[in-house]
Amino acid sequence: MGFCPQCGVNEALTESREHKRAPKTPASPMISMPEAIAGTVERHSTGWSEVDRVLGGGLVSGSVVLLGGEPGVGKSTLLLQIAGGLASQGRSVVIASAEESAAQVAMRADRLGIGTADVKLVADDDVDAIVAAAAEAKPAVLVIDSIQAVGVREIQSAPGGVAQVRESAARLIRLAKTSGIVVVLVGHVTKEGGLAGPKILEHMVDVVLYMEGDPDRGLRVLRSNKNRFGATHVSGMFDMQSDGLVEVDDPSKMFLDGWETEVPGTIVYPAVEGRRSVLVEIQVLVAPSNQVQPRRSVRGLDQARVNQVVAVLQRHAGVPLADKEIYVNVVGGWRLDEPGCDLPIALAMVSSVTDRPLGRVAAWGEVGLAGEVRAVPYATRRIEELRRMGLDRQIAPGGGEPMRLVDAIARVGL
Ligand code: TYD
Ligand code: MG
Repeated sequence: MGFCPQCGVNEALTESREHKRAPKTPASPMISMPEAIAGTVERHSTGWSEVDRVLGGGLVSGSVVLLGGEPGVGKSTLLLQIAGGLASQGRSVVIASAEESAAQVAMRADRLGIGTADVKLVADDDVDAIVAAAAEAKPAVLVIDSIQAVGVREIQSAPGGVAQVRESAARLIRLAKTSGIVVVLVGHVTKEGGLAGPKILEHMVDVVLYMEGDPDRGLRVLRSNKNRFGATHVSGMFDMQSDGLVEVDDPSKMFLDGWETEVPGTIVYPAVEGRRSVLVEIQVLVAPSNQVQPRRSVRGLDQARVNQVVAVLQRHAGVPLADKEIYVNVVGGWRLDEPGCDLPIALAMVSSVTDRPLGRVAAWGEVGLAGEVRAVPYATRRIEELRRMGLDRQIAPGGGEPMRLVDAIARVGL
């Protein structure tokens, strides 16, 4: 500049050089990729094959796992049982229980019959105290139940807030990375679906698992939404019983046990769950009604989807349903959210109206408003599972040929 930008005087600036050099940041050490591989990955089997499968082969040392789910779904129970599984293989576990007292946790473990000699409890909500305890005890796994219930002293806000959750997680992640301890964070999900203390944790951790289920029924599904050490969208299934969670290794078989094929109004739908297909039974009961507004009751499906199928059946297939009560149910507490379940709902409905059983039939396809049935993805996966379970009769659109709902109804002989 030839002038001073403040007073506007020309030639007022003089040049001088700074002699002090800025201190140089030491360069990070570099390692080759083969060296990096050699230094890693130790996996701890949880002793639970469904959990190991979802994790891609067990817990990786130094990794951080987030286990999300609605309150009461069974997160603490699952982790207690995993702790038992690890302990039975001689791997030590520390459970930092900020929500329940040590006595409560111990009593539950006792009731579940878990061998817990190697499981230690810390009933504290101060992250630094927990980190210090874990750094001293050096367990294979540290469980934080839950991340919303712990906090750090420097932050004034109450535990559960965004700042607390983020900072607490950051300190626990540092512990995992520096010590090799596996840190499992329990995170409560709000009804709206986000991890409370938002989804901020998901990108900070290595593995994100979600546990879902119907609180009134036993079925629980564990899914991997993110996994830096394995495939995502792998799912494991469990049954919550009076003595804890039990692995379900053949869900299709469980759902089809007790399937009565000679009763009208029942059909099988090959649902897609993660990377596999699971066969579930859909039941429909249509009954006469003398109400002005006949009752429509739906369990395990979206009510709007069922209403749409009812409307299309009336309009495009001439099925009289306006003065009928309609009950639709997915057996086993399973929740279906796929368009592909339209066709089985429609066929089961016609079967119930006409009082004629469908027999051993499976169906899938999306029903459109014009009375057409559209193909849905993963046909191969569905067909493989049906074959495995010995169900050969399938009604589904595919091969590029359009299918009408009336044709599908004719094909099952109704
Ligand atoms: P819990 O693990 O406490 O849920 P979360 O930690 O996700 O909030 O699970 C609580 C529910 O599980 C509770 O409603 C009762 C049920 N349950 C059983 O049915 N059987 C059992 O053996 C246990 C321990 C719990
Ligand atoms: Mg809990």
